[in-house]
Amino acid sequence: MSQGQPEIEQLDADDWHVLRDVRLAALQDSPECLGDRYNYEKGGSEQQWRDFLRKRTRFVAMVENRPVGMISVGEGGWSGTAAITSGWVDPGFRCRGTGDALVVTALGWAEAKGLRQVFLRVNEGCEGAQRLYCRHGFRRTGETRRLAGGRLEYEMSLKF
Ligand SMILES: CC(C)(COP(=O)(O)OP(=O)(O)OC[C@H]1O[C@@H](n2cnc3c(N)ncnc32)[C@H](O)[C@@H]1OP(=O)(O)O)[C@@H](O)C(=O)NCCC(=O)NCCS
Repeated sequence: MSQGQPEIEQLDADDWHVLRDVRLAALQDSPECLGDRYNYEKGGSEQQWRDFLRKRTRFVAMVENRPVGMISVGEGGWSGTAAITSGWVDPGFRCRGTGDALVVTALGWAEAKGLRQVFLRVNEGCEGAQRLYCRHGFRRTGETRRLAGGRLEYEMSLKF
């Protein structure tokens, strides 16, 4: 079946079920890059998903009414900064620019808010994500964190 190019959409408050579907798919597919949280999050109630949705701005890549990718963005820990989290694309839709489109959209959100620096964290071994973010100008800050399980997490940042 031929499928079109994903379209990037911002989720509204009532789209909690879309976020749930894509987030659970992402956690199931890539626990090594997104965290081993599938079993914990799959039991979330509607209210918990609604609360989770409104914590950040959520963009999804949609194909035929199905979410096949996502990225989240919000204000960062310091004034004037943004933070990107939860980038993911369904393996069946990778390597066609969807990750690029999600990152560009999240950066556009930050720039439109007047935020001058964007931070994110990438796990050791998630090479595709590191290449994606490097391609958009992100560089490692030198900050690292050792995750439960032993994997390293690298902080990356981009200044506009
Ligand atoms: C990282 C991730 C989001 C990238 O998604 P994606 O949609 O495949 O991203 P893109 O298509 O924009 O880029 C992927 C590759 O395809 C290439 N590409 C893009 N458009 C292409 C096209 N039309 N034809 C051929 N190749 C293409 C890119 O150059 C890139 O190559 P590279 O990996 O060798 O650098 C995805 O691999 C993923 O979900 N990984 C697991 C989760 C993860 O690591 N998340 C990050 C958490 S911080």
